[in-house]
Amino acid sequence: MAEKARRVGVLTGGGDCPGLNAVIRGVVHRLLRHHKVEVFGSEDAFNGFLDEPARVYPLALGSVSGILGKGGTILGTTNRGNPFAFPTKVPGGTELLDVTDRLKAAVEGFGLDGLICIGGDGTLGIAHRLMAECGINVIGVPKTIDNDVASTDYTFGFWTAVQRATDAIDTLHSTAESHDRVMVVELMGRDAGFITLAAGLAGGADVILIPEIPYDLTVLKSKIQRRRLYGRSFSIVAVAEGAHAKGEGQKTETLTDDRQKGRERKLGGIGRWVAGQLEEVTGIETRVTVLGHLQRGGSPVAFDRVLATSFGVAAADAAAEGDWGKMVTLQTPHVVRVPLAEAVGQKRIVDLASTWIEAARGVGICLGD
Ligand code: F6P
Repeated sequence: MAEKARRVGVLTGGGDCPGLNAVIRGVVHRLLRHHKVEVFGSEDAFNGFLDEPARVYPLALGSVSGILGKGGTILGTTNRGNPFAFPTKVPGGTELLDVTDRLKAAVEGFGLDGLICIGGDGTLGIAHRLMAECGINVIGVPKTIDNDVASTDYTFGFWTAVQRATDAIDTLHSTAESHDRVMVVELMGRDAGFITLAAGLAGGADVILIPEIPYDLTVLKSKIQRRRLYGRSFSIVAVAEGAHAKGEGQKTETLTDDRQKGRERKLGGIGRWVAGQLEEVTGIETRVTVLGHLQRGGSPVAFDRVLATSFGVAAADAAAEGDWGKMVTLQTPHVVRVPLAEAVGQKRIVDLASTWIEAARGVGICLGD
């Protein structure tokens, strides 16, 4: 039988996401109230353990009071804190070094039985390796607005991002209509089109471009021209940051300097590109809005608060029971535990046979193919 935990660490890693604080609150309440297990928070993902002096502090009920509806994370986060490739200053620059020995010593030094790691595929992958290769106990909690983590129906944060993007599309409609313009809105999501597809459906976009369906410019052109023919003088085009034309690669921002070492490739620029191309081929005035981090900031919607709280409580239970190496997931209507290994190897993208794709085609939305 697994040994029960007495003291557990919690951290948030990767990009922030609405609902992180609700998970932390759920973890702290459940561990302290129900399991009588102490809980410590590490600031800025694993960095709290690695910095000298360490930034790891005990969390009490008072520490999580009033944070349920707050955006961001009270623990701070970073996407430059991979302990297997940790940006470390060396003479002449920065190198990515394996500092997992130091991390393990610090976790043990605080007397922690294991860590609850709240993160997206990057942080969850690191957590999985920490357990498999270094013997650090972990529980994963899937977080990301992108909804691209396998084994869960939804990650928390996704529906908040969709709501923000839907509000933006709603708002763009009136100005597009007044000026007879094409409005392109670029949305986040990395290699998955979930945010753009859901917000495009909810906001009534005329064209939705997602990475899973490489687009053909001539198809977009004829959709917009046909709308004109039928008296609709404006069009709304929702583009996922990872979308790309048939036979072309994704648009990325170049990251070269030292500060960016250890970070993921950064997508961006496709909105401007599509807008330029559309204006050229249709002759219709076109504008672009890049919604960016407005999708990630601020207060979580009710669904994300409920999901995040449920995930926090479930992760606390798994940790307290010593059921390490698991990730909590939503398999509607239940939150269950799956092996972390099951989730980390795979990327989830939009299934082209899904109801949402069918619904989009059903209401005449052009998907670019
Ligand atoms: O993974 C969440 C996400 O917001 C992506 O949709 C986006 O590509 C990326 O993070 C942006 O990251 P950063 O915060 O580094 O700009």
